[in-house]
Amino acid sequence: MTTNSPSIEARKAESVSETLTVTDNRTGKSYELPIQEGTIKAIDLRQIRVDDEDFGLMTYDPAFMNTASCRSAITYIDGDRGILEYRGYPIEQLAEKSTFLETAYLLVNGKLPTRSELDLWIHDVTHHTLVNEKIKTLIEGFRHDAHPMGVLASMTAALSTIYPDARRVDDPEVRMLTMVRLIAKMPTLAAWAYRHMLGLPYIYPDNDLSFTGNFLSMMFRMVEPKYQANKAVEEALDVLFILHADHEQNCSANAMRAVGSSRTDPYSAAAAAIGALYGPLHGGANEEALRMLRQIGSVENIPDFIKKVKSGEGRLMGFGHRVYKNFDPRGKIIKRMADQVMDVTGGNPLLDVAVELERIALEDEYFVDRKLYPNVDFYSGLIYEALGLPAEMFPVLFAIGRTPGWAAQWNEMIQDSDQKIARPRQVYTGGRELDYAPIASR
Ligand code: CMC
Repeated sequence: MTTNSPSIEARKAESVSETLTVTDNRTGKSYELPIQEGTIKAIDLRQIRVDDEDFGLMTYDPAFMNTASCRSAITYIDGDRGILEYRGYPIEQLAEKSTFLETAYLLVNGKLPTRSELDLWIHDVTHHTLVNEKIKTLIEGFRHDAHPMGVLASMTAALSTIYPDARRVDDPEVRMLTMVRLIAKMPTLAAWAYRHMLGLPYIYPDNDLSFTGNFLSMMFRMVEPKYQANKAVEEALDVLFILHADHEQNCSANAMRAVGSSRTDPYSAAAAAIGALYGPLHGGANEEALRMLRQIGSVENIPDFIKKVKSGEGRLMGFGHRVYKNFDPRGKIIKRMADQVMDVTGGNPLLDVAVELERIALEDEYFVDRKLYPNVDFYSGLIYEALGLPAEMFPVLFAIGRTPGWAAQWNEMIQDSDQKIARPRQVYTGGRELDYAPIASR
């Protein structure tokens, strides 16, 4: 939740009342509602009624445009200033100095690890990368052209049947083991979904490799006894995972929390989060952005394409964000990474289209007025393509990166005494007390 604590403190010092006075013009009554951390409690509005029969006032907020659904100490975003911090650490520093597994530890445990804590964490994640052999049989049941994101969601849900103990969500040790398993097994499931698509044999994890190196090995190893990824490529992908690791109350984190709030096991909740991420307005946007660049094809087609977007024929995928209204700090880092990766892999002609599209869009009144900037998905697809990955795998890579964030958000929700089962209210707009008519007389 983004708050302005220093100014709140300053106002407290001047003994300004931290309340909101609301007058209900239907009754003439006034109510004083406490303001805490820049919010009023929606439930405090319930006391505002016209008479004893009245249910009480509610807020109407489709898509949670202005509703904080939780208090959280995991990720801070200032959308106007383009700031993103995990547990207080700026994303730029983590991208430059940390590793994905260290960042995952930070998100889940709330602090940077000591050397021995990190070694133990890496050991634990590395030793949980294997998945039950039955998972292979399940993957075999999918059609050869099954989208790997659908396979990933299904296999993640299937893990709940292999680890039924994960239902014991009130036990901190069980929770930690499940979070480690989720982070560790996601690359294995992802790589196997990919190999299934290509009809290639599944590659088992190699414990000598780093988290990201092992993922690349499970993706690309053929008959060689050992696969060593190109170091620059491995590091670039590790940074991409860091950039995707959490993003506070986004659609999939919200799904993870909402489903987890029924106190189901976290594998089932993570399957729901993967489903949310699959959508083209969320994690599926990187796949769509690349398809869009392919469809544009070359720089001279950009003006026509922009004209179509402005007239309402589709969206500029990889542009815009619910929270960032200045720039997406992840987008800036990713653009730099794209150049770095292309140096190794030999470039991608679509990069020229992307750079020119960004330039034109950033000068265009339509995009400027609506504060639409390139987001994390605009350049990531180009990097993934340069790594030789098909577009279907892009949201899957997003899911691997986002798993520590989902785990941390879920773990925080389970321990939050303010939380209950997620159950929004509605404004009912349908008919009432109709008389059932027999089918012959309708
Ligand atoms: N291209 C063209 N117009 C756009 C775009 C876009 N990418 N995004 C928003 N708009 C327009 C939209 O039509 C609306 O215009 P008007 O006011 O004239 O009706 C205005 O901008 C506001 O749009 P909105 O849909 O109310 O904004 P939102 O905050 O609900 O949506 C968004 C945010 C990310 C869903 C949206 O910008 C979008 O669809 N972007 C393309 C998909 C995309 O890149 N998604 C990845 C998001 S970042 C990764 C992640 O966290 O998942």
